[in-house]
Amino acid sequence: NWTMENFIDTEIKRIRTLVGPTAEVIGAVSGGVDSTVAAKLMTEAIGDRFHAIMVDNGVLRLNEAENVKKNLIAGLKINLTVVDASDEFLDKLKGVTDPEKKRKIIGNTFIHVFEREAEKIKPKDGTDIEFLLQGTLYPDVIESISFKGPSQTIKTHHNVGGLLDNMKLKLIEPLRELFKDEVRHLGELLGIPHDLVWRHPFPGPGIAIRVLGEVTREQVQIARKADYIYIEEIRKAGLYNQISQAFACLLPVKSVGVMGDQRTYDQVIALRAIETTDFMTADWFPFPHEFLKKVAARIVNEVDGVARVTYDITSKPPATVEWE
Ligand code: XMP
Repeated sequence: NWTMENFIDTEIKRIRTLVGPTAEVIGAVSGGVDSTVAAKLMTEAIGDRFHAIMVDNGVLRLNEAENVKKNLIAGLKINLTVVDASDEFLDKLKGVTDPEKKRKIIGNTFIHVFEREAEKIKPKDGTDIEFLLQGTLYPDVIESISFKGPSQTIKTHHNVGGLLDNMKLKLIEPLRELFKDEVRHLGELLGIPHDLVWRHPFPGPGIAIRVLGEVTREQVQIARKADYIYIEEIRKAGLYNQISQAFACLLPVKSVGVMGDQRTYDQVIALRAIETTDFMTADWFPFPHEFLKKVAARIVNEVDGVARVTYDITSKPPATVEWE
């Protein structure tokens, strides 16, 4: 009979047979549920012959790289290398304002950095790494077969497109028969912390598509701090699990405000929170007014460069979840 416990045993055996006694495996982790669960399963199967790589692209959430290090290396004993490539990504993003161009640059730079790092962890005996782990889920498999819409772009960032061809790697996808809720259940059984297992999704291009207009280090930092406060308050209010996804966007607009007896002229933060089952349609989340009031006050008071906070009350459709 099919149980998740049986699935773990069977899958570990299958991985060991497939990889054999000596070969090495690489895989990218993002800090999200799918890649962490896949990485933990692989570590259970072959230990340090699995090499996880996390690319810090400079547009991750506040303290994200440090948190992933703490959770995955210290907590889950995953053989992880975190590569700080923020300068490289931010250099390439200079002067770019078009959302699709941002996505392309981030996707291509990611592949480039990942391949370079993979070269560095070539096994000492001179053999090549043979396998690439991917946290592909069943819905991704279906989508890549049947769907040819705009989310083709999304696909290429979820997965490490191109790598297979260039490095001649064989693919391992242990989650390809599972739905998201099953991956979460699997994550809990593998001892992955609850907060990580139940985390909202985060797009591959990260805060670059939440800083509208040009992405600079300073703009990213403002968006990050606002987002951090917003999510912290959502958690404190006990609303995190009722919301499917929430984040802050930084708008390239200046607005007049007043702080003490000073006139200010700073940017605008837009808060987004949605409820959805499939992300194809979504409703905005009806926060209590007191909650919005508190978050707005905290963001304007605590984040330099922000004069005003707005709440996005547009459903999908016609709006998308992300602003770019
Ligand atoms: P939209 O904005 O298309 O978002 O309504 C639907 C879901 O997809 C995520 N999203 C992305 N994920 N790369 C990703 O990995 C992307 O380029 C991308 N664009 C949107 C978005 O966060 C939401 O969960």
